[in-house]
Amino acid sequence: MRKAKVADVPAIQALIHRFADQDRMLHRSLSELYENVRDFVVIEEDGAIVGCCALRVVWADLAEVKSLAVAPDQQGKGLGRRLVEECVEEAARLGIPRVFCLTYEVDFFARCGFHVVDRAEFPRKVWSECIRCPKFFNCTEVAMTREVAAAER
Ligand SMILES: CC(C)(COP(=O)(O)OP(=O)(O)OC[C@H]1O[C@@H](n2cnc3c(N)ncnc32)[C@H](O)[C@@H]1OP(=O)(O)O)[C@@H](O)C(=O)NCCC(=O)NCCS
Repeated sequence: MRKAKVADVPAIQALIHRFADQDRMLHRSLSELYENVRDFVVIEEDGAIVGCCALRVVWADLAEVKSLAVAPDQQGKGLGRRLVEECVEEAARLGIPRVFCLTYEVDFFARCGFHVVDRAEFPRKVWSECIRCPKFFNCTEVAMTREVAAAER
C-alpha cells in the first residue's frame, strides 16, 4: 500500500468505474481524480492497482473516506479494511477527530468501526459536493461515521 501517483490515475478510474457501471459507487472524471490524487492511497500487486481509497478533508473536524474499491478477485482478503484504516490513520495524523462515508456497503463499514448516522449531520458535505451529484434528489446512500480516537490523533 502506498500513496497514489499521477500515473496510477487511469487505473484508479478503471477500478472505480467497474463498480460505478453497476451503480455500486459514483463515477469519477479523470480531471477530478488528477485534482485529488494526493487524497488517494492504492494497493499495488504485480504492477496492477488492485485497491484504492481516498480521504478528503471537509473541515477542521471532519474528513470523508471515499472512492473505496477493491478488485473483485482480491476481495475478502482484508484489503478494503487496510485501505480504510490507512485513511483513518491519515485523519489522525492531520488532527481530525471524525471521519464519515456515504455508502451502500453498510455491513462492511460497520466491520470497520463505523456506525450509521443521519446524513443531515453533514450539511457542509451536502452543499459542497452532493448538490452536484445526479442522484442528489434520489440518493439511497447511507451516512456512517467513526470517531478518530484521541490516542490515534
Ligand atoms: C466493499 C469492499 C471495498 C470491501 O473490500 P474487501 O477487501 O472485500 O473487504 P475486507 O476483506 O477488508 O473485509 C473486511 C470485513 O468486512 C466484511 N465484508 C466485506 N465486504 C462485505 C459486505 N459486502 N457485506 C458484509 N461484510 C463485508 C468481511 O467479511 C470482513 O469481516 P471481518 O471483520 O470478519 O474480517 C469491496 O467489496 C468493493 O470494492 N466493493 C465494490 C465497491 C464499493 O462498493 N465500494 C464502497 C464504496 S463507499
